[in-house]
Amino acid sequence: MPDPAKSTAKPAKQPVNKTRFTDSQVAVTRVGILGCGTVGGALVDLISQRAAAIEESVGIRLEVRHIAVRNLEADRGPAVNPDWLSTDSNAVATAEDVDIVIELLGGIEPARELILGALNAGKPVITGNKELVANHGAELFAAAAKNKVDFLFEAAVAGAIPILRPLRESLLGEDVIRIMGIVNGTTNFILTRMTEDGASYDEALTEAQELGYAEADPTADVEGFDAGAKAAIMASIAFGVEVVANDVHHEGISNIDQTDIAFANRLGYRIKLLAIAEVFGTGANKEVDVRVHPVMVPLTHPLASVRGSFNAIFVEGAAAGELMFYGRGAGGDPTSSAVLGDLVDAAVNLRGNTFLPVPAGAPAVIRSIDEVDSAYYLNMEVGDAPGVLAEVAGVFGQNGVSIGSMEQTGLGDDARLVFITHIAKERALQQTLIELGELGSVRAIRSVLRVIED
Ligand SMILES: NC(=O)c1ccc[n+]([C@@H]2O[C@H](COP(=O)([O-])OP(=O)(O)OC[C@H]3O[C@@H](n4cnc5c(N)ncnc54)[C@H](OP(=O)(O)O)[C@@H]3O)[C@@H](O)[C@H]2O)c1
Repeated sequence: MPDPAKSTAKPAKQPVNKTRFTDSQVAVTRVGILGCGTVGGALVDLISQRAAAIEESVGIRLEVRHIAVRNLEADRGPAVNPDWLSTDSNAVATAEDVDIVIELLGGIEPARELILGALNAGKPVITGNKELVANHGAELFAAAAKNKVDFLFEAAVAGAIPILRPLRESLLGEDVIRIMGIVNGTTNFILTRMTEDGASYDEALTEAQELGYAEADPTADVEGFDAGAKAAIMASIAFGVEVVANDVHHEGISNIDQTDIAFANRLGYRIKLLAIAEVFGTGANKEVDVRVHPVMVPLTHPLASVRGSFNAIFVEGAAAGELMFYGRGAGGDPTSSAVLGDLVDAAVNLRGNTFLPVPAGAPAVIRSIDEVDSAYYLNMEVGDAPGVLAEVAGVFGQNGVSIGSMEQTGLGDDARLVFITHIAKERALQQTLIELGELGSVRAIRSVLRVIED
């Protein structure tokens, strides 16, 4: 028999009571959820999984009380108590036994009316609705401010990635100069498949639809509307001005083909759909440039390595320098994680009788796309004859657009000229395109992409 006195075995760990809050210290927060689809359903699951840990950590007990849906018969999974379900979304938004309302319906109406109803009933509101915030943010912010309650919408931009809270809080003292983001997973997936596997645009889009990344009607994603709404929200928060979806210049990716992808690869770039927001000047002279379009990103830039359906946001600050936020930009679980983060914040604020001030700002002065400075990639079909290059180069020169590099490829009907320019004004580039189009030797301008210089 071993001598217990000499045993080196560690004594069994005694369970430690780690509870930091007594029952009387725990605040119960009653939650009403509008919508129980991809995000709402995942949120109910996540609350049931994380509720104990949240209570342990911050002394808040989250209790779902009501959920508004359209169809009471649909299977909602084991985390949803059927007694919570109702088709009366107004009643859920203003219920007396609900402290915080979460809007996960999507679209403008009835989401807007329901959120206003909840805010005016004195309830903090959380939403993931980018379309609504980008089009009606000012009205909702005003209602939240008037009622002195939280209005939080982290999930509206880039799913799980915390970007609005860092912009609103961690970077509050920072002079944010520029934000560039890959904020649409569908288009990044399509461009990645085209780049890495040689898929055509149509093949990559079909695959994205089969995998559930793209809608049957992919317009909002591929034409840049979805990214535009997110760009407007980020610009509003980062620059303290009101930017709405309509202020955003957007171009999509549906014209990108394998020729552009091949040139980008050869020249050391990746083509990405970027949401870009920049600020110029201060005070009354402040101007904001917000746009979404495909960009040739040098392989050395961190955004070039963001593959598949992932999102990333690159923030440049005067003091902080370059920061990058990376992760899953959509999907039930990632998005519900951002919603739950907002919910815990709002519950803690409610207990403390406080709220996060809304991003109030006057309507932004938007810098016209004509005034934007960029380098450009141009790919054109030209006649295969002596003197064409000089003629084309002459048009660039007359418009003050200087050429950084040039490639001549193909022969006969396949003759192409590809240029990368130095930084030029968009207005000068557009005039160059008009004049190139008038040259008999230029058969077609196949594509024009903006370029981030290495
Ligand atoms: N899905 C994502 O990856 C993602 C990512 C970021 C942000 N978001 C945003 O999150 C929000 C929700 O998106 P989702 O993908 O979860 O949408 P979804 O799957 O279509 O779910 C919508 C839910 O709202 C309910 N609903 C719609 N209209 C209603 C009405 N008038 N009254 C009562 N219930 C109604 C639907 O009820 P039924 O189930 O009965 O039809 C469904 O449960 C949107 O604003 C979206 O932009 C989504």
